[in-house]
Amino acid sequence: MDQIVRPRRLRGGETIRKMVRETRMDKSSLIYPMFVIDGVNIEEEIPSMEGQYRYSVDRMCCELERLVEAGVGSVMLFGIPAEKDETGSQAYAKDGIVQRALREAKARFPELYYITDVCMCEYTSHGHCGILKGHDVENDQTLAYLSRIALSHVEAGADMVAPSDMMDGRVQAIRRELDGSGFKEIPIMSYAVKYASAFYGPFRDAAGSAPAFGDRKSYQMDFHNSREGIREALLDVKEGADIIMVKPALSYLDMVTKVRDHVQVPVAAYSVSGEYAMVKAAAAKGWIEEERIMCEMAVSTYRAGAGIYLTYYAKELAKCMDEGKIG
Ligand code: PBG
Repeated sequence: MDQIVRPRRLRGGETIRKMVRETRMDKSSLIYPMFVIDGVNIEEEIPSMEGQYRYSVDRMCCELERLVEAGVGSVMLFGIPAEKDETGSQAYAKDGIVQRALREAKARFPELYYITDVCMCEYTSHGHCGILKGHDVENDQTLAYLSRIALSHVEAGADMVAPSDMMDGRVQAIRRELDGSGFKEIPIMSYAVKYASAFYGPFRDAAGSAPAFGDRKSYQMDFHNSREGIREALLDVKEGADIIMVKPALSYLDMVTKVRDHVQVPVAAYSVSGEYAMVKAAAAKGWIEEERIMCEMAVSTYRAGAGIYLTYYAKELAKCMDEGKIG
């Protein structure tokens, strides 16, 4: 047979396969999401997220140490307060859970890079991501609170803030607040392309942040929409976002690619709690190979165009990269 072109030539062995790889990753692009909770001596496993824990400030350091050892350099902190109220006041309290965790973590592990999730749903008694007016979240009033939360995180030592509330204009509001307080150099990673997704289910168990009534569809995006995601991304870049995030990752890789093609800033993708929980559950049944699935999910996200990957598997992925299984 007269075949000149044979793609298989480049698949003949491990060395040539690695030589021609199109997607290369680095541990420095991994961000580990971590839950910190008010109280002492707490290290409780999250039932729907096997292997993930809520740590009190006095117990979180072992986990931070494991991250440093694994070569994962960045964490995203989520706080779970003891008290919730209508305006989520613990979200911007000087001695709030995230603020205390930041001060302690920065002192113990200054080599790590600390990003904070800026949102209100973990802190409000109603579980919505902002200030309510009737049964709706009032956009513009919420902006002042988000700005205050972001500033309080930065004052406590956050290296970057990541608003995840999906209010209109929040990036600009936070940017102004930070700049006005002398924090011009602190970047904002915007959860710009964030869909109203059932994939967040286990996170809401973990953080006790499920809305008490209704849903988040009036602020998070409808998953039927793609152009709307580009619009959100472009708007946030205009408002001063330094990094744009797409969330969830697995079912939204088309959006990762499209956003990457439309913006000049780095693109991050968040493999959320439901993605993690599905893999864990199927692996526990012996139905899939956890490590290989985890690797495929990660590589496909980078292949789609993400330069930064937020994942509960950060440590395990770092190990696979070290061992040359991926990367
Ligand atoms: C806060 C927030 C959520 C997640 C990240 N930030 C929950 C939500 O929007 O309901 C989800 C993360 C995950 O599922 O792993 N708004």
